[in-house]
Amino acid sequence: MPDPAPRILPFGEPALAEAARLIIDGQPVAVPTETVYGLAADATRAEAVARIYAAKGRPSFNPLIVHVPDPAAAEALAVFDADARALAQAFWPGPLTLVLPLREGAPVASLVTAGLPSVAIRVPAHRAMQALLRAAGMPLAAPSANRSGHISPTRAEHVAASLGATVPLILDDGPTEAGLESTIVGGRTILRPGPITAEQVAAVLGPLAERVGDAITAPGQLLSHYAPSKPVRLDVTAADADEWHIGFGPIAGDETLSSGGDLTQAAARLFDALHRADAATKLRIAVAPIPAHGIGEAINDRLTRAAYR
Ligand code: TXA
Ligand code: MG
Repeated sequence: MPDPAPRILPFGEPALAEAARLIIDGQPVAVPTETVYGLAADATRAEAVARIYAAKGRPSFNPLIVHVPDPAAAEALAVFDADARALAQAFWPGPLTLVLPLREGAPVASLVTAGLPSVAIRVPAHRAMQALLRAAGMPLAAPSANRSGHISPTRAEHVAASLGATVPLILDDGPTEAGLESTIVGGRTILRPGPITAEQVAAVLGPLAERVGDAITAPGQLLSHYAPSKPVRLDVTAADADEWHIGFGPIAGDETLSSGGDLTQAAARLFDALHRADAATKLRIAVAPIPAHGIGEAINDRLTRAAYR
């Protein structure tokens, strides 16, 4: 028997009230942020957080990002130094996550940090996540709202297809803006490239430290994290007959991330394009070369993971 369909409600007062009720009741709710849809639950209660892991089928050593409504709420949970404060000032609310020492006695379930002495924290800008944080009145742990190892969702329908009725409610507020998960910074190192580029971070912090290897220093930066179900080939200018070709710039492909070669537009469309490629009848996926500068670094990071077997 197929799973019953999940409830999808458009963003608005009734949906928000029900979402807050579910969160307070310890249930997970799927909610959009400016990056991707998240699966949010009360970060202060282990049993609520455990329901996130259960719905995602995620290995429990993988720590989650804590979302708070404003920098003051972040300072209550984590210890900020001058660098962290400068980054928060520059990019919050927005698609930046800071890995910081967990404040002693902070009300964060240890399942959120996977027992680490640090916590990943961010202040999202999206109106739906902001409204839910304020209505629920507690920090929300939220990984991307997909089954572990699947592509991150940029639309409510992606969440429904990946998680089905394991989530009681999906708040639908349309496609997400950035389309890629937040940039994660720990100290002077970019642990995960994202919508805030290395250049932007360096403009605040000065020279950055090198990412070591694959930066699995962010546990959960598993190499095959963003995997479609089909083989993916990268830097392809001419695709084979059995490949769904995702184009960019002058390479049109079967569909394009951005015909004008706009990297921001490409980032916003990337996961949606991978979802469509996965659903296409062709057996394999090919992707045109994407320049590695600016947000192109984050796009190539996700593509490398999508192609890894
Ligand atoms: O844009 C985003 O960041 C989305 C939206 C929903 O906010 N969330 C997201 O969460 O991408 P998730 O769980 O898919 O990725 C969280 C990343 C993982 O790579 C995890 O290992 C890392 O953050 N992380 C979490 N806590 C950490 C910590 N204390 N130290 C190092 N890395 C940490
Ligand atoms: Mg994820």
